[in-house]
Amino acid sequence: MKLTRHSRPRAWLVAIAAVLLYGGTAAAADLSVCIDSSSPTAAMDTRLAQAVAQHEHAMLQIHRFDGSGDDGGFDLDHFNKLAGHSCDLVLGFPIDADAHGAPPGLKASTPYGHTGFVLVTPPGSHVATLDQLAAGSNVAVTYQTTPNLYFIDHRQLVADVRLSDEDSLRALARHQVPAAMLWEPTVRRYLAGAGAHSGLQIHPLHEPHANFNLVALYDARHQPAADAFEQAITAIQASGRLAELLAPYARTGAVGPSRPLARAARVERSDRRVARHCSGTAPKPVGNRKPHHDDDALPALYTAAQAELGQAKFKENCAVCHGPHLEGRAGPALKGANFASEEAQFHVRDIFTILVHNMPATEPGSLAHDDYVQIMAFLLQQNGYPAGPQQLTYDEALNSKVKLLYHGE
Ligand code: HEC
Repeated sequence: MKLTRHSRPRAWLVAIAAVLLYGGTAAAADLSVCIDSSSPTAAMDTRLAQAVAQHEHAMLQIHRFDGSGDDGGFDLDHFNKLAGHSCDLVLGFPIDADAHGAPPGLKASTPYGHTGFVLVTPPGSHVATLDQLAAGSNVAVTYQTTPNLYFIDHRQLVADVRLSDEDSLRALARHQVPAAMLWEPTVRRYLAGAGAHSGLQIHPLHEPHANFNLVALYDARHQPAADAFEQAITAIQASGRLAELLAPYARTGAVGPSRPLARAARVERSDRRVARHCSGTAPKPVGNRKPHHDDDALPALYTAAQAELGQAKFKENCAVCHGPHLEGRAGPALKGANFASEEAQFHVRDIFTILVHNMPATEPGSLAHDDYVQIMAFLLQQNGYPAGPQQLTYDEALNSKVKLLYHGE
């Protein structure tokens, strides 16, 4: 769909009309928000925008966009444009509580609610956690969503991968599976509609990357609108109305990372060598930490040709979860000061060990040795390490004690 630019003349008229209407007491501003019409939370986002505008005595403009995308993803440029030109705030943006903050170039409001992936069971089921499912149980999950990863930790369960959330819900309704792991807002929307009397039960999932905070995204130029939004949310929460506005899709407040424990436990089970190096890697605070600058010359560990091949293989095998620009999606960002940080204390061998033992998360260890090495070369390049005449080999990568610190701009 086409984006319409924020229309200045009309905005002025509206502002003047509003000032007249309210007798010019508090200068009524214009609040323009972008709402993703493809998101199951669109109705909730709209209610929230209306409540905020009412609190601010602002004229509300809603710009609806279709965020479903055609590559199943989130197009960063598109978002930057939206937040830069089409509206002051993009509402209802879910941020993984375990992984990363706002997408690069944008700012995020304080989280006002949280939601996430949930375990859904049919009526009458006594199962409330993954561990209560009988060994060998099929669990429906939707193609290319985070819950596909949970089978790595729950090897007694079998993934029944479906093409859409609706497929997964149908499988549950027909008792073809004893459980499904799905995005809560989608399930809630289904229950509110056709599935109202289905008796499906919803339980939290205590797994990494299952919990998301809802924020408003904005461009730094719209800071005043973001400040006003936060004030309005605080007031709405104080009046007790926020929970009602978010229900049933989300709950108020923020959730913290589940990552340190969950990940330490998982890695320990799958590979003790990784555990030793990983225990210090989380949590990674969000925000712009200063990049590290070493005076020592950085070693050239790989060749430019390897990095180039690695880029293509990354696109093919990793970008779906880590983002085409390594910015992070279902999986964490693999580039930048929040990834290769002093706190994380990564060495090349730690990251390489994760790659070869745990990645791609849905099919660990499935790539050829050379592919992993080339992808490692690409990650080094993207984090500011120079190429040289010597090729990186598999054994070197597995043993390299070179520290991985972001050396970008
Ligand atoms: C299906 C999604 C998915 C795919 C595909 C995938 N990953 Fe991951 N990756 C994840 C998730 C989720 C995590 C976080 C795991 C955790 O915290 O325990 C992760 C973690 C990592 C980490 C550790 C990062 C850190 O900060 O601790 C690296 C490195 C990594 N992945 C590299 C890759 C590479 C390279 C590929 C392609 C060969 C790949 N991943 C494919 C989902 C994926």
